[in-house]
Amino acid sequence: MRAVDLILKKKRGEAMSKQEIDALVRGFTKGDVPDYQMAAWMMAVCFQGMNGEETAALTDAMIRSGETVDLSMLPGVKVDKHSTGGVGDTTTLVIAPLVAACGGTVAKMSGRGLGHTGGTLDKLESVPGVSIELTMERFLSAVREIGLCVMGQTDDLVPADKLMYALRDVTGTVSSIPLIASSVMSKKIASGADAIVLDVKMGSGAFMQTLQDARSLAETMVEIGSRMGRRTVAVITDMNQPLGMAVGNGLEVKEAIELLSGKIPESDPLYAVSMLLASHMLMLAGLSSDEAEAKAKLKTALKSGAGLRKFSEMLAVLGGDTACIEDPEILCRVREKRAVYLDAEGYISAMQAEKIGTAAQLLGAGRATKTDTIDPAVGLVMHKRRGMFVGADEPVATLYINDASRVEEAVSMLKQAITISADRPKSSPMVYDVVTAV
Ligand code: URA
Ligand code: CA
Repeated sequence: MRAVDLILKKKRGEAMSKQEIDALVRGFTKGDVPDYQMAAWMMAVCFQGMNGEETAALTDAMIRSGETVDLSMLPGVKVDKHSTGGVGDTTTLVIAPLVAACGGTVAKMSGRGLGHTGGTLDKLESVPGVSIELTMERFLSAVREIGLCVMGQTDDLVPADKLMYALRDVTGTVSSIPLIASSVMSKKIASGADAIVLDVKMGSGAFMQTLQDARSLAETMVEIGSRMGRRTVAVITDMNQPLGMAVGNGLEVKEAIELLSGKIPESDPLYAVSMLLASHMLMLAGLSSDEAEAKAKLKTALKSGAGLRKFSEMLAVLGGDTACIEDPEILCRVREKRAVYLDAEGYISAMQAEKIGTAAQLLGAGRATKTDTIDPAVGLVMHKRRGMFVGADEPVATLYINDASRVEEAVSMLKQAITISADRPKSSPMVYDVVTAV
């Protein structure tokens, strides 16, 4: 089988066989198929797409490029969640403890943030002492003891994805639904989950900018899950503004602790989306029969403090100082705070979440390249959401600053991210759709 023939086949828009996809992925991972041929094939996929069978075959080939995690020795349905990447999205740190407090088993491999989106590992590492480099044995024993744990993705998990993603990044082939879907699902399935809840973000801060694209990505991932024997549900949620008010690592952990402490109202988007995702996890795990029952259980776990205790237990396993549970302010102590005012007053009619993420990144909360170091305490806290009125004397956000060198850039980015209008805008949904297996 010659790689060039496979490229030509996809270029003509023909469906490839499982054997052909396998040979290509295996050849590429071993180094027999060079980058330029894989890049050419992925570009053909961008234009011609792949059917459900091909996409599942690609996912399966990617999974088999490396080691997989076996969670079968753990009791119950192992349920995972994944977000396609957002700004101020701290749901994992809220959901994993609540689901564990309701009897679920959450053994989660997480990634780091890049660009304007944050990663769960970076957030956890803002807690003094935390190390996410656990051995697999310690990770599994922690999940057995306390019902949850988060660790960094091991290097040998889906190596094909690492190589393909690096190529996609520099060849304009990131935004292809079958390539994104197989990338996400290969990692989720290889990390051992029986059931997967996906949070597909839609809007200015997300990969998917329209509901049509978001739905198509959601359906593709749910179909991969079904074809590979994993119970999968996708929720399409709004990313036209940051999900939580905090954007920055320690700041987001603080917000998660506040939520788990019952200090954030039910109407809050971070609360609502976390509860929805967690309720689907309980349903997929067979721990609740419907959404209302699941939400009632989760609320009890929140109100009783059981969720917060699970969070604290997980921090302890990771070597973290649990003093932040009582005093989350210690996670975001900075040299200087600065309130940001807009140049005109009015209603916030639109926000570009990506720019708000970038503003936090400019303050040192995120990485522009993989080797950048991040400052765990810095970032920003929004005081206003879309649809709210901002008076001339009201700050729209507060910046948390240690290194002031790029503050003016961050302020200007933040201002650019916010559109003001004289009239109150129509409200927009937080949740657009829930996609289940057909
Ligand atoms: N997240 C991933 O893991 N892969 C993609 O291709 C896009 C988002
Ligand atoms: Ca993420």
